[in-house]
Amino acid sequence: MAKVVVDIAGKRPYDVRVAPGILQNLGEALRRLDRNPKALIITDLEVAKHYLNATKASLEDAGYHCSVITVPSGEEAKSVECAAEIWNAMADCKLNRDSLVVALGGGVIGDLAGFTGSTFMRGLPVVQVPTTLLSMVDSSVGGKTAINLEAGKNLVGTFCQPLYVCADIETLQTLPEREWACGCAEIAKSALIDSDDFFFWLCEHADQLAARNADVVQEAVVKSVVFKAQVVAADEQETKGVRECLNYGHTLAHAIETEAGYGVYSHGAAVAEGMRFAARLGVACCGTPLALVETQDHLLDELGLPALDLQADPERLLDLMFSDKKVRSNTLRFVLPRDVGDWEVVSLEPDVVLEHLRAWQQSLSCADQA
Ligand SMILES: NC(=O)c1ccc[n+]([C@@H]2O[C@H](COP(=O)([O-])OP(=O)(O)OC[C@H]3O[C@@H](n4cnc5c(N)ncnc54)[C@H](O)[C@@H]3O)[C@@H](O)[C@H]2O)c1
Repeated sequence: MAKVVVDIAGKRPYDVRVAPGILQNLGEALRRLDRNPKALIITDLEVAKHYLNATKASLEDAGYHCSVITVPSGEEAKSVECAAEIWNAMADCKLNRDSLVVALGGGVIGDLAGFTGSTFMRGLPVVQVPTTLLSMVDSSVGGKTAINLEAGKNLVGTFCQPLYVCADIETLQTLPEREWACGCAEIAKSALIDSDDFFFWLCEHADQLAARNADVVQEAVVKSVVFKAQVVAADEQETKGVRECLNYGHTLAHAIETEAGYGVYSHGAAVAEGMRFAARLGVACCGTPLALVETQDHLLDELGLPALDLQADPERLLDLMFSDKKVRSNTLRFVLPRDVGDWEVVSLEPDVVLEHLRAWQQSLSCADQA
C-alpha cells in the first residue's frame, strides 16, 4: 500500500492511502485517528449501488454508528438546495463537532460533502473516499470544496483539508470510459507540469493506463498525488502563484465546455484540447520546443483524448474566457509549459489570444477535411 503525506504548514498533516481493496479497512484506519462513534456517509446514487454497503460495513465493524445521505449523480448535486438538505440531515442526525463526514464518490461528492462538512457547526472532520480517477488524482487532495450557483461553477466554497484520504483503486473497475479519460487528462496535466520523470514515465505507460493495468494505475495515482501534495503544501490557498499551475489547459477548456454546451464534451476532453492549445501558445510566447507539442499530442491520443472536432467562433470563445470568474483584468492568464516540468503564467492581450484561437480553429477544420 502506498502512503503520501500531505503536510501543509500550520495544518495537521494527513495521509492519502492508495491501494487496491483498502475500502474494507477504512473503518479500522479511521479508528486510529478518531474516537467519536458517529459518521455520516454522503454519496450519490450510482456510487451507492456499488460501494455503499462495503463502506458502511467497514465503518460499522469498527464501531461507528453510521447514517447515510444519498444525492443524485452528477454536477447538479453541487447546488444550494442539496447543500441545505444535507445540513438539515446533519442536524437531524445530531452530528457534533467530532462526528465524521465521509465523502464516498467522485469530485462532485468530494466538493459537496467537503463544503457542507466544513461549514456545519463551523467545521466537521471530512474523510475523502474518491471513486473516480479524477477525484483520486486531483480533487480529493488539497482541500478545495465548492458548490455551484446559477451565476457560475464553484462560486461558493471553502478551503478545508481532509482528515484522511482513502483511494481504493479497485473501485475504478466500474468507472465508465468517459470518466476514465477525464482522470487521464488530469494525470497528463500533472505529469507535464511536474517533471521529466513523471512525464516520460507516463508516455511510456500511456497505453497501459488507458487499458487500466492495475500496477500502472496505482503508480499513476501515486505520482499524481505526490505532485498535488507538493503544490498545495507550497500554496494551499492559491495566493502564492504556485497552485495556479493546476489550471494548465483549463482556460480554454472552460470556454469549450460552455460553448459546446455542458456535457457535450467531457471535462477531460476539453482539458486535453486546452493543453494542446496552451502548448502551441507556448511555442509562440515562451519558447516551448515543438517536440513537446508533438509528444504531448501523441500522449493525449494514446490516453483516449483525441483532438476535438469543435467548430466555434474564436471571438465567442474569447468572450467566454473573459467571463471566467478568475479573470480580473483586460488580459488573459495562461499557464504555459516552457518545457516539461517548467511552466510560467503569461498574461496575453485579447488580440494575441484571438489570433491563436483563429489559427487553432483553422487547423481543426483542415484536419476535418483531410
Ligand atoms: N476540489 C477540487 O480541487 C477539484 C478539482 C477538480 C475537479 N473538482 C470538481 O470535481 C467534479 C468532477 O468530479 P468527477 O469527474 O469525479 O465527476 P463526478 O463526481 O460527477 O463522477 C462522475 C460520474 O461517475 C459516477 N461514478 C463515480 N465513481 C464511480 C465508480 N467507481 N463507478 C461507477 N461510476 C462512478 C458518478 O456517479 C458520476 O455519475 C466537478 O464538480 C469539479 O468542479 C474539484
